[in-house]
Amino acid sequence: MKILAFAASLRTASLNRKLIQQAATILRAVPNVDVDQADFREFDMPMYDGDLEARDGIPAGGREFIRRIQGSDGLVISTPEYNGGIPGALKNAIDWASRTEPIPFEGKPILLLGASPGGLGAVRSLWHSRVPLETIGAHVYPEMMGVPRAHQAFDDSGRLQDPNQLSRFQGLLLSYIDFVRKLQGTS
Ligand SMILES: Cc1cc2nc3c(=O)[nH]c(=O)nc-3n(C[C@H](O)[C@H](O)[C@H](O)COP(=O)(O)O)c2cc1C
Repeated sequence: MKILAFAASLRTASLNRKLIQQAATILRAVPNVDVDQADFREFDMPMYDGDLEARDGIPAGGREFIRRIQGSDGLVISTPEYNGGIPGALKNAIDWASRTEPIPFEGKPILLLGASPGGLGAVRSLWHSRVPLETIGAHVYPEMMGVPRAHQAFDDSGRLQDPNQLSRFQGLLLSYIDFVRKLQGTS
């Protein structure tokens, strides 16, 4: 099984990047799970513009995003929260990816994670992100996890410091993998 994992942040010091790194480390230890860990910069693309699409089709970064989704059995996305909702860059990438047939998100199991220095851990962004993803046919896993005060949550090696939080995080990732296997009919 291959899982595409990425943080929906472009910043080098991104907290969501740290969280996705931690998720990838945990997932790589699960038997028969491969992780395609992407940098969101690989999916650089202009704002959706119907004229641009009519003239040139889907831009290179959008085509790469589509190719990587198509090559995966599921996605783990860690997203920041911007002004109480989904970051524009993530919504834009979803919009471009939805312009190909069949829509690559259709039937894909997705786990949503988030990290924020604030007290809510980006959970409003996670709820917001479900809407477009479910609209285009993704199976967004019912449970999600936001890491609040994420600027203090990681140790120097990038590991979640709070043992309870780490254990909940590991449990969530494993239950998500079970969900993917159930959807595939392999468990
Ligand atoms: C435009 C903008 C809006 C933001 N709005 C929120 C918000 O609504 N809630 C929140 O918890 N943090 C908000 N933040 C702070 C981000 O959570 C913080 O910058 C976080 O580190 C971004 O994720 P990253 O570290 O993965 O890049 C906002 C930041 C920016 C740049």
